[in-house]
Amino acid sequence: MKVLIVGSGGREHAIATSVNKSDKVDKIYCAPGNAGIAGVAECVDIGAMEFDKLADFAEKNEIDLTIIGMDDPLVGGVVDVFEKRGLRVFGPRKNAAIIEGSKAFSKDLMKKYNIPTAAYENFDNPEAALKYLETAKMPIVLKADGLALGKGVLICNTLDEAKEGVKSLMLDKQFGDAGNQIVIEEFMTGREVSVLCYCDGTHIKPMTSAQDHKRAKDNDEGLNTGGMGTFSPSPFYNDEVSRFCEEKVYQPTMDAMKAEGRDFVGILFVGLMLTEDGPKVLEYNARFGDPEAQVVLPRMKNDIVDVMNACIDGKLDEVDLQFEDNAAVCVVLASDGYPVAYEKGKEITGLENFENKDGYYVFHAGTKFDGDKIVTNGGRVLGVTAKGSDLVEARKNAYEATKWVSFDNKYMRNDIGKAIDEVK
Ligand code: AMP
Ligand code: GLY
Repeated sequence: MKVLIVGSGGREHAIATSVNKSDKVDKIYCAPGNAGIAGVAECVDIGAMEFDKLADFAEKNEIDLTIIGMDDPLVGGVVDVFEKRGLRVFGPRKNAAIIEGSKAFSKDLMKKYNIPTAAYENFDNPEAALKYLETAKMPIVLKADGLALGKGVLICNTLDEAKEGVKSLMLDKQFGDAGNQIVIEEFMTGREVSVLCYCDGTHIKPMTSAQDHKRAKDNDEGLNTGGMGTFSPSPFYNDEVSRFCEEKVYQPTMDAMKAEGRDFVGILFVGLMLTEDGPKVLEYNARFGDPEAQVVLPRMKNDIVDVMNACIDGKLDEVDLQFEDNAAVCVVLASDGYPVAYEKGKEITGLENFENKDGYYVFHAGTKFDGDKIVTNGGRVLGVTAKGSDLVEARKNAYEATKWVSFDNKYMRNDIGKAIDEVK
C-alpha cells in the first residue's frame, strides 16, 4: 500500500520510521517532509495547510492511507476534506480536533463530564478577566484559547504579572486571534506525564507513558519550547495512576466526545499532572506529541498501519497494543538561542553514524538539503533517541549518541530524564 504523511517535524520522521517497518507498505510520501524524512519517504512540496492540493495528490497517486501528524491542519478540518472526497485518512475531524483547538471547549467538556482538571473560568472580555484576577489566588495560569505553538500558557506569580498577561494575550494579541478568549486556571503542582492514546470513536487504548521537558534550559529554567527532550515510560505513571486514568479520564473523554456528537478518531494526547489530589488533565492534543512520539513509537511492537486502520474502521477493541519492556530517551539538539532567535543554515555532520545502529535513531526536525549537504533549518534541529533496558541505560545511550553529530551552535539540555534518578 501507499501512505502519505502530512507534516515536517521530528514527530513525522518518527511516524514515517514506524510506517516504514510495516511489510504492507510499499511506498511512503511525506508533505512537505524534511531532509531526514527523505531517507524513508519521497518528500512532496505541498504545505500542510494546502488541503485541496493534498487531497489532489492523494487521489492522483492512489494513496491508501493519509496520516496527519500536525495540529494546525487537523484543527483546520483537513480530515473532513479528505473524507468528503472518499479518501482514507487517520486523524480527528474538525469537530473533534477542537478538543485541542479550543482550550475553553476542552475545559467545559471536562467540567460537564466530571473529568478531573484544574478549576477555571473562561473569559472573552478583558475587563471581566482583570476584575476576576483581583480576588484570585496566586500563582495563577492564563491560557490563550486557540493554538499558539505550545506557547500560549502563562504562569503568573503575582497579580501584576497576571494583569500584564491578560493585556498581552487579549489586548496586544501576542498570539493573534488565539487570545480572543482565554482560560484562567488554578495553578497545580506535581509531576507531568503525557499519555498518547489510539482512538476509534468508541474505544480508546493508551500507549506507554512519556514525559516531556518543555523549558529551554536545565533545571526547567528558561522559556517554554516545543519540547527539549522526552523519556518513556514515566516511572511516576504507576499501575494505580494508570487504572485511575483509564477509568476517570480516557474512556470518559471518549464517551463525552461521542455524547457531544464529536466522535474522536485518531490520537488523543492527554497531558496529565499527578497532583496530591490525584491525576488531573492539563491539556488535550489531537495528535502525537513532539518529541513524545520519538520515544513512544520506537517502543511499539504493533504494525502502526494495522492500528491506524483499526481506528478508522472502529475496530480498535480487536487490537492487542504492545510495547517493548524497555525504555527510551530522546534528547533534542537545538540551535543555540531557540526559542527566541537563532541562526540557520549550519552544516550537520556525522548523521551516518546512526546507520545500522540498532536501538538508536536520529529524527530530523528542522533540517534541509543544501546541495548534497544537510543543514540546520529551525530551532529544534534533531531528536536523538536511544533505547536501553531501563531509563538509566537509555539516557546514557542517548547522551552518548548526541556526540555523534555536530553542527555550529548545537545546543541541548543536559538533564533530560534526570528526574528518574529520584525513583531509584
Ligand atoms: P499546556 O499547553 O496547557 O499543557 O500548558 C503548558 C505547560 O504549562 C504545561 O506542560 C505545564 O507545565 C504548565 N501548566 C499548564 N497548566 C497548568 C496549571 N494549571 N498549573 C500548573 N502548570 C500548568
Ligand atoms: N511535546 C508537547 C506537544 O507535542 O504538544
